Amino acid sequence: MTAKVIDGKAHAARIRAAVADNVARLREANGVTPGLAVVLVGEDPASQVYVRSKGRMTVEAGMQSFEHKLDVGVAEAELLALVERLNADPAVHGILVQLPLPDHMDSAKVIRTIDPAKDVDGFHISNVGLLGTGQKAMVPCTPLGCLLMLRETLGDLSGLEAVVIGRSNIVGKPMAHLLLGESCTVTVAHSRTRDLPGVVRRADIVVAAVGRPEMVKGDWIKPGATVIDVGINRVDAGDGKTRLVGDVDYEGCSAIAGAITPVPGGVGPMTIACLLANTLTACCRANG
Ligand code: GUN
Repeated sequence: MTAKVIDGKAHAARIRAAVADNVARLREANGVTPGLAVVLVGEDPASQVYVRSKGRMTVEAGMQSFEHKLDVGVAEAELLALVERLNADPAVHGILVQLPLPDHMDSAKVIRTIDPAKDVDGFHISNVGLLGTGQKAMVPCTPLGCLLMLRETLGDLSGLEAVVIGRSNIVGKPMAHLLLGESCTVTVAHSRTRDLPGVVRRADIVVAAVGRPEMVKGDWIKPGATVIDVGINRVDAGDGKTRLVGDVDYEGCSAIAGAITPVPGGVGPMTIACLLANTLTACCRANG
């Protein structure tokens, strides 16, 4: 079997176009333009790339983009004061503080300071609690993007066996809650899981979010399963260059799976599209 390639780039473009339509309609009807503030502390090159592309796509969707760049050595109190100002600013409907933050900062405290209604990352404990109890929450963008691709590929997910590899707060845990909400039977595997290949072999749905290049092998996959690869790893290409690979051995797995996301062009574009959708949602809720 050669797996169907799940085109995250095309799906994301459709979501962004729908968001742009709704932004234009909202402006006409209410005179309101959604605004997203992105805060970057330091000069991590990967974070700079993400922040730049978030800003560009925010503007392309017709929204206002506010970028705040702080020096790597800035005091935590200064970052907290900025977040408080953004909380109080009526032109800002969504706030995203790019992670990871420098070691001298307490990320949990910074996230707790964001107004939950503006927490478009869905990282604030009150959104985490709402999602975990099956209530209406701001949902983290990467797992939300994965879920939308799964629904488009499989339709009803009810009763399917899902294995999430990775237990991070950003992806693994919220992904598990979303799949439970779809009535999947969910297993969260991690670095201490015994017989990981055996666990993954049971899965109709595999979501890999571990940050280990090409860890999930083709012979771990149940024939016909759907594989979502959240990993973005830069590896040596052998010719002095580097290349991007996921957490999944794409060649090996696409020979066995029914459907699979590529890297790049799978989960990545969906994350930003979901961020824009969350910002629009936050703006609509703020304006009744
Ligand atoms: N760093 C890597 N992914 C993310 C994300 O989804 N949100 C934020 N704020 N930082 C990140």
